[in-house]
Amino acid sequence: MLRVGIVGTGRISDLHAIEYLQNKRAQIVAVCDTDRDRAESRAAAWGVPSSGIFSHHHELLALPDLDLVEILLPHHLHHPVSLDAFAAGKHVSVQKPMALSLAQANEMLAAAAAASKVLRVYENFLFYPPVTRAQELIDAGEIGDPLTIRIKSNAGFSPNAWHVPLASWAWRFDPETCGGGPLVFDDGHHKFALAWHFMGLAEEVHAWIGKMELMPGRILDTPAIVSWKFPDNRLGSMEVVYSPQLEIETRHYAQDDRVEITGTRGVLWINGGHGRLADAPPLILYRDGKTRIFDDLPVAWELSFVHATRHLIDALENGDPPRLTGAEGRDILRFLLAAQQSAREGQAVTV
Ligand SMILES: NC(=O)c1ccc[n+]([C@@H]2O[C@H](COP(=O)([O-])OP(=O)(O)OC[C@H]3O[C@@H](n4cnc5c(N)ncnc54)[C@H](O)[C@@H]3O)[C@@H](O)[C@H]2O)c1
Repeated sequence: MLRVGIVGTGRISDLHAIEYLQNKRAQIVAVCDTDRDRAESRAAAWGVPSSGIFSHHHELLALPDLDLVEILLPHHLHHPVSLDAFAAGKHVSVQKPMALSLAQANEMLAAAAAASKVLRVYENFLFYPPVTRAQELIDAGEIGDPLTIRIKSNAGFSPNAWHVPLASWAWRFDPETCGGGPLVFDDGHHKFALAWHFMGLAEEVHAWIGKMELMPGRILDTPAIVSWKFPDNRLGSMEVVYSPQLEIETRHYAQDDRVEITGTRGVLWINGGHGRLADAPPLILYRDGKTRIFDDLPVAWELSFVHATRHLIDALENGDPPRLTGAEGRDILRFLLAAQQSAREGQAVTV
């Protein structure tokens, strides 16, 4: 039985809890949040006894029989709380991006190694069923060798989006606590991780990141265009745009993501993620003049979390490296930081 403590019981913690609650090999035994009411309501929903509710992560880490700590905190806290968890002898699963700088990421990797514990960077997009199916098709040679990847991220609004408290947005608009902007840095991790997943490490990036003032002091990093070069003459690009009056279907965040991967003999489209617009099937393959539509894939967004968490439970049980390892998470972070640097300097940056 994997005994799990969740530090940070904010918006996203609901989706992390699902698999721990349904998997017989794991149990949420403790929660921690500086917002006591929030910790208590999540504890009640997840069956955590009051003795397992804490306001300071040191109290949670002092539990002797805790195996794994899920860190679901604003980004500037990922590094210090991870170091404390390793010092207390726990495995760590930390949400993306793992840290604000490569120096912090290096310290986290070193602390994990010194404690002989696992450091996992939580990147659920890689476990979304249409993404895993797309990877299977690529591995089977359906599009030949991938040449380019093109990602479009379109945020809008939805009457059905889940409630995100203002406090959950506030820290994302402050580079000191977020590390960059909400769309290209925070959410961008998912998109750059997808590019890395399908095509490998990029070697050079160029970014133009716009500024949209939503209200005084709230600058959204959009519109933006980021382009990059992989080894062997392969390319990637991402466009980010916020359309305030664009209605998007979702039960979570009002944002549609589209991915197009072009290979030497075919093309793949992955449509939608936590939100979707238009009625496109979740996955389309084109090759040899024929279009194959995959409209029977499970598309519930929470499945990406269910599979990502199940993967970690399996990896810890079998002693396998998790996806993302700390080193893989550091590679994505290096890319994110290079894109931010490129936008600041107005020139291409080596990753
Ligand atoms: N994978 C995804 O799709 C996805 C989606 C949303 C968020 N996230 C990530 O999850 C993490 C949390 O995001 P969120 O949207 O849930 O944020 P949030 O602001 O809703 O939740 C953070 C929680 O941490 C608590 N907190 C702050 N400082 C604390 C401290 N020192 N000790 C204990 N608790 C503290 C806050 O009270 C809050 O409840 C971030 O890293 C974010 O990037 C990932």
